Amino acid sequence: MTGTPALPWRTAWIVGASSGLGAALAKLLDGRVGTVAISARSADSLSAMQAESKTLVAYPLDVTDADAVARCYRDIEKKAGGVDLVVLSAGTWDVVEPPEIDPAVFKKSMDVNFMGVVNVLAQAVPGMMRREAGQIAIISSVAGYRGLPKAAAYGPTKAALINLAESLHPELAAKGVTLSIVNPGFVDTPMTAVNDFPMPFLMPVDDAAQRLLQGLERKAYEITFPRRFTWAMKALRLLPNAVYFWIVRTFVLRP
Ligand SMILES: NC(=O)c1ccc[n+]([C@@H]2O[C@H](COP(=O)([O-])OP(=O)(O)OC[C@H]3O[C@@H](n4cnc5c(N)ncnc54)[C@H](OP(=O)(O)O)[C@@H]3O)[C@@H](O)[C@H]2O)c1
Repeated sequence: MTGTPALPWRTAWIVGASSGLGAALAKLLDGRVGTVAISARSADSLSAMQAESKTLVAYPLDVTDADAVARCYRDIEKKAGGVDLVVLSAGTWDVVEPPEIDPAVFKKSMDVNFMGVVNVLAQAVPGMMRREAGQIAIISSVAGYRGLPKAAAYGPTKAALINLAESLHPELAAKGVTLSIVNPGFVDTPMTAVNDFPMPFLMPVDDAAQRLLQGLERKAYEITFPRRFTWAMKALRLLPNAVYFWIVRTFVLRP
């Protein structure tokens, strides 16, 4: 813990920590939190991160496997003590272009992006509510604000997370548990590297992780970045459907 001050968590668990936003956040927490448990499927990447770190500990995991999530959570609590920060960053993104509607793609999106979160909440929420302490951040997306072209599989999972967080927040808050929803715009990660369309205000991943950490420290309910883009996306929610669809046709689809 040299130079940078300690953070207010003893045991953090970052799910989806092998790359992108989760990995960048793990590096920011390293050495400033007693233990940072890092999970994802890529065991080799997690081990490499652990080897180069002060306080990162690898717990490989597929979030779609509810039993494995339960075992992993018990393992972390046994070795590192009660988890007081959970960050849910695991996610998957597939382009959908009509007329092709492949149910398998939609199911994978829902299984990872939505049920993966539910599987982790099922473990973390009861203990936190019992202890009347703890913090959880769910990484959703501005793609959950309104339907976007190509995002017919991804967007609904993120809209569902926004609704899930809104639904749970009051009862968790009443028991001293902080629940945040994180709605990023475009961030430069392996997930967006495959995109062949313009990504306005694409943010470097280290800047995005800093903004995420600042939001967590503030215990903000909604954490968004980059704000110029996310606020514009939020304003689109206020438009009548006909105007919204005209904007999408004119500026996004552009024949
Ligand atoms: N990048 C953006 O512009 C952007 C914008 C808005 C929201 N988001 C959201 O931010 C979060 C992080 O995305 P990212 O951009 O950092 O992408 P990323 O680099 O692809 O990271 C995704 C992470 O999720 C993990 N993951 C995927 N499937 C998993 C599974 N079944 N079980 C456990 N872990 C799994 C991946 O690791 P393994 O492959 O090793 O399992 C990886 O660590 C996602 O929820 C994404 O939807 C991203």
